[in-house]
Amino acid sequence: MKRQFDRKLDFLTFRYTFLCETFMNTISQQTRNLVDRSVLCWLATVDHVNHPNVSPKEIFCLGPKDRLLIADIASPGSVTNITSNAHVCVSIVDVFEQRGVKLIGEAKIISDEQSEFAEIVQPLADLAGPHFPISNVIIVDVQRIKPIIAPSYVFRPEERASEKRRSAYKTYGVRPRSEAVAGAGCPTLPNQQAQATTVLEKRNIETMFSAFTDTWAPKICGKVNGTHIKLAKFEGEFVWHSHANEDEMFFVIKGRLRMELKEQPDVIINPGEFLIVPKGVQHRPVAEVPCEVILVEPMQTINTGEVDSDRTRISLEMI
Ligand code: NI
Repeated sequence: MKRQFDRKLDFLTFRYTFLCETFMNTISQQTRNLVDRSVLCWLATVDHVNHPNVSPKEIFCLGPKDRLLIADIASPGSVTNITSNAHVCVSIVDVFEQRGVKLIGEAKIISDEQSEFAEIVQPLADLAGPHFPISNVIIVDVQRIKPIIAPSYVFRPEERASEKRRSAYKTYGVRPRSEAVAGAGCPTLPNQQAQATTVLEKRNIETMFSAFTDTWAPKICGKVNGTHIKLAKFEGEFVWHSHANEDEMFFVIKGRLRMELKEQPDVIINPGEFLIVPKGVQHRPVAEVPCEVILVEPMQTINTGEVDSDRTRISLEMI
């Protein structure tokens, strides 16, 4: 009974949020989150003789005063249409939850020759990166917001959004990135973060170590916020190096690791023991016997730090 009530509440809360948006013309946090995590929106415009055009846009964000900013990277049709008819509708849909919003309003074009362009384009330029120059910024002054919901929300109100998401993962043959890191190489979509409803699976260190034999080639077995958990097998001497910005944790599971440190005595790390090497400290791991080690370090850490060596590994396998 409570479960049914919760489901009803979830659906009603969703409708209430959008009703508030529709009448108050303000963008809710729910819609902001949707815009932030979406990788694609659809911009509908009409030309001077009212012929419609719908164009996908990848670089967009919400700006101040509830305005949607869209980068014109290669959108001559949209720009021409807006110049003659300012009315637009932008659809943003979470394909996994099968719901989203239509942002309806009037658009204007700010070209790179206008004085305000430099400031307005900044958040879009950050998203686009250096290889995609932005010619114009399309600013949508959002005047109305309408919900987009799949018919299943009406005909199967008892099904939670989380259940819809799970069944959509199956339909599209994808899974959240967190699961893909932890499991087999399934295709993933960007910006689809782990959801609270992700089915959590435990993992076994011994099984994962038995899955590879190469040494000094760390594998990523998990991600915790901005930190990678890596498994590595060591044998013999590594190279002297340091990491300018990253602390590095060595947790020995098997074997015996000697950490040589500049101007400090060596540290012997036995199974069940760990050592954290702070950023900037010169170190060289030496494994006189084969070692199995868990590394915990920021995602950008390169195994040989600032040293370029034949042991350097830039792109790491996931297991
Ligand atoms: Ni290191």
